[in-house]
Amino acid sequence: MGCRLTRRQFSVGVVAAGAGLAGRGAAAKVQGANERVGLGVIGLGNRGDQLIDAFRPHKDAWITALCDVYAPYVEFAKEKVGGDLFTTKDYRALLDRKDVDAVVIATPDHWHAKQFVDACAAGKDVYVEKPLSLVVNEGRKMIEAARVSKRVTQMGVQRRSSKVCAKIAELIQGGAIGKVTACRCFHLTNEWPHGIGNPADCDPPAGLDWDLWLGPARKVAYNPNRCFYRFRWFREYSGGQLTNFGTHWLDVIQRAIGQDGPAGVFAVGSKGTIKDNREIPDTMEVVWNYPDGTLVSFSQYNANASEGAPRSAHIEFRGTEGTILLDGSESLQLIPEAVRTDEIPALNPRNRQGNSRQARATTRPADKALTFKGRTDTADHARNFLDCIKTRKPCVCPVEVGHRSTATTLLANLAYDRGRYLTWDKEKEQFTNDPEANKLLSYEYRAPWRLE
Ligand SMILES: NC(=O)c1ccc[n+]([C@@H]2O[C@H](COP(=O)([O-])OP(=O)(O)OC[C@H]3O[C@@H](n4cnc5c(N)ncnc54)[C@H](O)[C@@H]3O)[C@@H](O)[C@H]2O)c1
Repeated sequence: MGCRLTRRQFSVGVVAAGAGLAGRGAAAKVQGANERVGLGVIGLGNRGDQLIDAFRPHKDAWITALCDVYAPYVEFAKEKVGGDLFTTKDYRALLDRKDVDAVVIATPDHWHAKQFVDACAAGKDVYVEKPLSLVVNEGRKMIEAARVSKRVTQMGVQRRSSKVCAKIAELIQGGAIGKVTACRCFHLTNEWPHGIGNPADCDPPAGLDWDLWLGPARKVAYNPNRCFYRFRWFREYSGGQLTNFGTHWLDVIQRAIGQDGPAGVFAVGSKGTIKDNREIPDTMEVVWNYPDGTLVSFSQYNANASEGAPRSAHIEFRGTEGTILLDGSESLQLIPEAVRTDEIPALNPRNRQGNSRQARATTRPADKALTFKGRTDTADHARNFLDCIKTRKPCVCPVEVGHRSTATTLLANLAYDRGRYLTWDKEKEQFTNDPEANKLLSYEYRAPWRLE
């Protein structure tokens, strides 16, 4: 595959783009453990730049092609990576190249499904950023596209490759905190009072193909807040902070409690605290209930985390025999409960102070207290993807799993939209108490874009 590297090119993990173009589906095959994987990166903004950094240390990967609809980002990435790279603003031209074995997709969420499905059809393995999709039904099509084309896929939830999150799953599934009854996660950031501001619509910046940025989304005038990074605050391109951060947290939680989807969801919130042109709520509370009775909540509000209060990247697992706190994905703390070992005595009606029963309980410590530190590094998640390209085994977060973690957050947005508790059949992927909500599981792409 590809062409030979000079020492300099090898040292920066880059290859000059190979000559001739290949037709669709003519991806080079990575045969053995020592073969190098040619990578095409689609979307070179904030995350695309981080992913270039995450893949470059792996000497068996070399970036051969770059794509973005904003020319200055292409130039920046080209200079950073170095070498005679193929560059384009049209991802389909990148997919046509024989020196691209796998693609890394870091575009806004509304592009993930289309680019993923086309990449599979072109025979490329795919690393796609979270959240997997903008709507639930896109995720199903992505699973099908990967299955038919036998592609190796990885969704960009790097905590899947973190030892701390693996340890949480091991502890919880080993019964360390008994039955988990509730999990709480948070997105706390104080954007009050002006948030992202309220800029007027204007001409797009030089070098940006705004129509191609919008792609399948409705045609609207350019507004700086709708585009780079801040598209997250607009539901036409993203599910807001609930899908942005929530997909990370829900992936950690669902893995730990051994669940892959809720039985129902309720969400409540408002937009009013922050004065800007966002379309997502600035204040929100979501509760999912799982088939085993576990309740999971996500809280988003504008307040600085004070001493001792939950922080933004904080997840709590509350069990009958203990609590596990995950702090910033870097360290976990297990706090065991004292578990009652004797029967509760019969109530004595003459005892006015009544239930001092607990004080008289005989208890044992449920488990040993434990702290465990680790790191979350996207380079580890990239490593897992590269390894699986060679072994053809599933990655730690293949599209099927990424879909489940993403869908859970997408459902909550629909519960918010519908203003009601929605019950969910996770096998059929349908709401069972609201036909109108089922219509919101997909959306119509703007022509000529279609998701086959
Ligand atoms: N895993 C993580 O921790 C993590 C962190 C940040 C972002 N993300 C995800 O990465 C994605 C991108 O977010 P971001 O912060 O980098 O946004 P961004 O706006 O900084 O970058 C997105 C880039 O995609 C480009 N783009 C848009 N349409 C395109 C198209 N059709 N073809 C090629 N390029 C196109 C834009 O011009 C922009 O440069 C989002 O889905 C986000 O959720 C993940």
